[in-house]
Amino acid sequence: MHLTLNDPLDMHLHLRDHEMLKITAPLSAHSFSGALIMPNIIPPVDTKQALLDYKHRIIEAIDNENFTPLMTLFFRDTYNYKFLSDMHDELTAIKLYPAGITTNSEGGVSGFDLEKLKTPLTAMSELGIPLCIHGETNGFVMDREAEFVPIYEKLATAFPQLKIIMEHITTKESVQALDRHANLYATITVHHLLITLDDVAGGMLKPHLFCKPIAKRSEDRDALIQVAVNAHPKVMFGSDSAPHPKSAKECCGCAAGIFTAPIALPLLAELFEAHDKLDNLQSFISDHAKNIYNITPPKKSVTLKKEPFDVPQSYGDIIPMRAGETLKWKIASVQ
Ligand code: DOR
Ligand code: ZN
Repeated sequence: MHLTLNDPLDMHLHLRDHEMLKITAPLSAHSFSGALIMPNIIPPVDTKQALLDYKHRIIEAIDNENFTPLMTLFFRDTYNYKFLSDMHDELTAIKLYPAGITTNSEGGVSGFDLEKLKTPLTAMSELGIPLCIHGETNGFVMDREAEFVPIYEKLATAFPQLKIIMEHITTKESVQALDRHANLYATITVHHLLITLDDVAGGMLKPHLFCKPIAKRSEDRDALIQVAVNAHPKVMFGSDSAPHPKSAKECCGCAAGIFTAPIALPLLAELFEAHDKLDNLQSFISDHAKNIYNITPPKKSVTLKKEPFDVPQSYGDIIPMRAGETLKWKIASVQ
């Protein structure tokens, strides 16, 4: 059995920088047509020059692959219309992190004071720049995302022309919010479609399944699966593939992040097939993102075949999800 996907897009990707970038960028560039590149490198991408330099390093690392890095800026409440309009053409979205909520987010936003956010968010609305948000409060870890939903709704109401992407949603509460506001959208990862907290911590602790937001309950996962496999038009794929070196995962004080980029398409094919919805994978993996972001990525056809794929034990010093396991689908060709 074969499945061909046109122009697959990963609308939430961490490529990192320097030596790690040389490993991660070619892997995503091989099987995706483009990806939205997260800005939480060190230091965060928060100027036009930093964005252009980072884009240049990514393009160098992918070595002529047909792949568009869709660049993001790290949100600061100091951004204004003049600053953003000057770099509008280089920018696909701006990523907002609550301060300290995850990897390299210390410089993020504290409190969600609409007055403070008014200048940058009004400018983004006027320029048509989407706002991607890591939506978690600093409450109890299992409740953080649900507690953030009222903040999403407050922003969506106050800035009705602003496209707000609820990143890597993990809860039924976020799924329900999607249909209450015309300007709310969401990305979903492949790991949150597959695992619950039980897989992370129900038996021996699995550091390579530890991420933010943490995987939730099975009813949450079911709500995510329903909107993904049934092609809800406001939902798109964003892997949140977040590599860390093995030494930062298998230690005391495990870094949050699951490395899925090289196995995402085979895992999604298996999941959509299990729900008898393979025909809807094209929408989830590309068409919805093209519509929501109004982008035209380079043409790329990725053909998957239902044949065993042995996931490598590691890519450099990065351990992927499902390392050493055999998946049911593999990438057979890319054109
Ligand atoms: O698990 C995560 N890792 N979640 C995030 O939001 C950030 C990411 C990272 O950059 O490591
Ligand atoms: Zn992320």
